[in-house]
Amino acid sequence: MKVVDIFCGCGGLSYGFVKQGFEVVKAFDNWTPAINIYNANFSHPAEQIDVYLLNPEYLKKLAPDMIIGGPPCQDYSSAGLHDENKGRADLTLRYADIVCEVLPRFFVMENVDRIVKSETLPKAITKYKNAGYGLSQVVLDASKCGVPQKRKRFFLIGEFGGRDGWLDDRLINGQTATSMSIYDYLGNEFGTEFYYRHPRSYARRGIFSIFEPSPTVRGVNRPIPPGYKIHNGDATKDITMVRPLTTLERARIQTFPQNFNFLGTKKTDLEQIVGNAVPVELASYVAGKIKEYISIKETFVEVPIEEQVKLRPRPIQMTFEEFAVAN
Ligand SMILES: C[S@@+](CC[C@H](N)C(=O)[O-])C[C@H]1O[C@@H](n2cnc3c(N)ncnc32)[C@H](O)[C@@H]1O
Repeated sequence: MKVVDIFCGCGGLSYGFVKQGFEVVKAFDNWTPAINIYNANFSHPAEQIDVYLLNPEYLKKLAPDMIIGGPPCQDYSSAGLHDENKGRADLTLRYADIVCEVLPRFFVMENVDRIVKSETLPKAITKYKNAGYGLSQVVLDASKCGVPQKRKRFFLIGEFGGRDGWLDDRLINGQTATSMSIYDYLGNEFGTEFYYRHPRSYARRGIFSIFEPSPTVRGVNRPIPPGYKIHNGDATKDITMVRPLTTLERARIQTFPQNFNFLGTKKTDLEQIVGNAVPVELASYVAGKIKEYISIKETFVEVPIEEQVKLRPRPIQMTFEEFAVAN
């Protein structure tokens, strides 16, 4: 299965698909530091281009069986506060237009879970439906898909000519009943039990333990502010036991392998790139479910109806006595 990744970043999504045996042949992004990291880690190239300038005819020549991508999501704020006309939300529609022109057998679109409340998602769905895709739509909790992190992400997955909901059961039922902790995944790799993660507001705690899933890895990483006030929910009240995690440690929580090469990228860029990424194991989980679906579908050979009629056992055209004599 040939795959193309659009908005590839440093390659979290690509890496998960490669892990499951898909052949990613090309990737695209418009941000140099992310492209550089991507190209240091994969044998196929990532090209730097603004997706508005990416010609679908060029993609058709690559003949991908699947297009995967996570369009940028900053403009989907929660109910009532959205400003989807600023530009980034449009990239979700641009992605839909590209997919619907290239018409690969499958596509995957990953995004933040609040996209379900946006005005953009129904518009994108209409495009995919009109083009002939059967759609699965799910929100997955990464901590139940092999990632030691609470991170809810929306996936819209299409099969050309498929039925709606084709992958839902597989994706939902494959999740584990309990969440994975950092310790479950990395053991004592960080050498500290407690760490600091800057809260969005001081009504929230900032101190976490490795014996629980990490909160969502975001694109910023701040030091412990002087005079930090211990919160009721903090995993320890002893601030001397606590340190912030390094960017590379946060990349490990994003389930990038230890040997993934982040080059010497500037810290603020790297925090953003790592926080943007689809955790490798979450991508691998989704890729694995698509792979299972494909392999089952391909083992089931569809028999044309005339053949089925020939194969069906024929009703016995004899009386019981005649049958008894014949046997
Ligand atoms: C959410 S991140 C994708 C993360 C990636 N899927 C991963 O797993 O690592 C979105 C990416 O879209 C890229 N991007 C934003 N606007 C773009 C545009 N107009 N053309 C191409 N890429 C763009 C950003 O540079 C960023 O890397």
